[in-house]
Amino acid sequence: MTPVLSDGARAIQSLLTRQGLPSPSFQVVLGSGFKDALDQGIPSGFVIAAEVPFGEIPGIHPSTAPGHSGKYVFIRHRTRKLCGIIQVGRLHGYEGLEPREVVRTVMFPRELGVEHFFLTNAAGGMDPAHTTGDVMLIRDQINLSGKNPLSGSNPSRPDGTPWGPRFQDLTRLFDREWTREVSIALQSEELKVHEGVYVGVAGPAFETPAEIRFFQGIGAHAVGMSTVWETVALKHSGARVCGISLISNIAAGLSGGADGEPEELDHFAILDACKTSSTRILRAILLSVEKNCGA
Ligand code: HPA
Repeated sequence: MTPVLSDGARAIQSLLTRQGLPSPSFQVVLGSGFKDALDQGIPSGFVIAAEVPFGEIPGIHPSTAPGHSGKYVFIRHRTRKLCGIIQVGRLHGYEGLEPREVVRTVMFPRELGVEHFFLTNAAGGMDPAHTTGDVMLIRDQINLSGKNPLSGSNPSRPDGTPWGPRFQDLTRLFDREWTREVSIALQSEELKVHEGVYVGVAGPAFETPAEIRFFQGIGAHAVGMSTVWETVALKHSGARVCGISLISNIAAGLSGGADGEPEELDHFAILDACKTSSTRILRAILLSVEKNCGA
């Protein structure tokens, strides 16, 4: 029986059919700071097959955040029946969107059967071991955004069957196997790799130094304004999730400026700091997928 699809998922499906692409099995979400990661072409054995801006998918808002153009890029493997989606740019609560609107960019592909999700973001490092350009694999998260994508009616597929239970367990939110695989690949890309807890906040203002001290005290290692909603919605749907933070800056109050005062944060300087590492992170993800997926 043909599954009932939402308008958004159907728009993606018809593009895949027109291009003669197999069903995608994985999705990489490239957050802020990762927009140039595709500029040097697509690493590994994959080629770009097609792309579509968010504005052409019913139900997905065009992105308004600087550094996030907002589109899906469809990639396929040169020799294997393996297809994936790279989501360039993501939506955020601070753009005035509700969690359910934000998570549609991953839940439409989920409707089409995508099972493996690699969620990247830029984050402020709060661990003394962090240096700008390092990577932190997300072991666990703290959602301090004040909102949850499972609030309201239990999220369901378009045919009305719930994606998951009303009270979702989050004990193993992040997939251990993918985290291990990606960690190995990141180290081969000569990136310094940490593991830790990501705290998701509402933004859009950066934090005060007092807030950063508070986050350190509650056991967080990196802070950002995204990801925590997508992870919960995806877990609820039974997908496998790997979370990857690029440490784009040291969090507020933790690094000194030349005058001895704490250094101030600047969004564009943060985006700039991501360039080298973001390309390597994307390559590491795709190499891991290539190694572990597809006939
Ligand atoms: N704080 C919040 N979000 C961020 C940061 C930060 O320091 N860096 C990148 N995204």
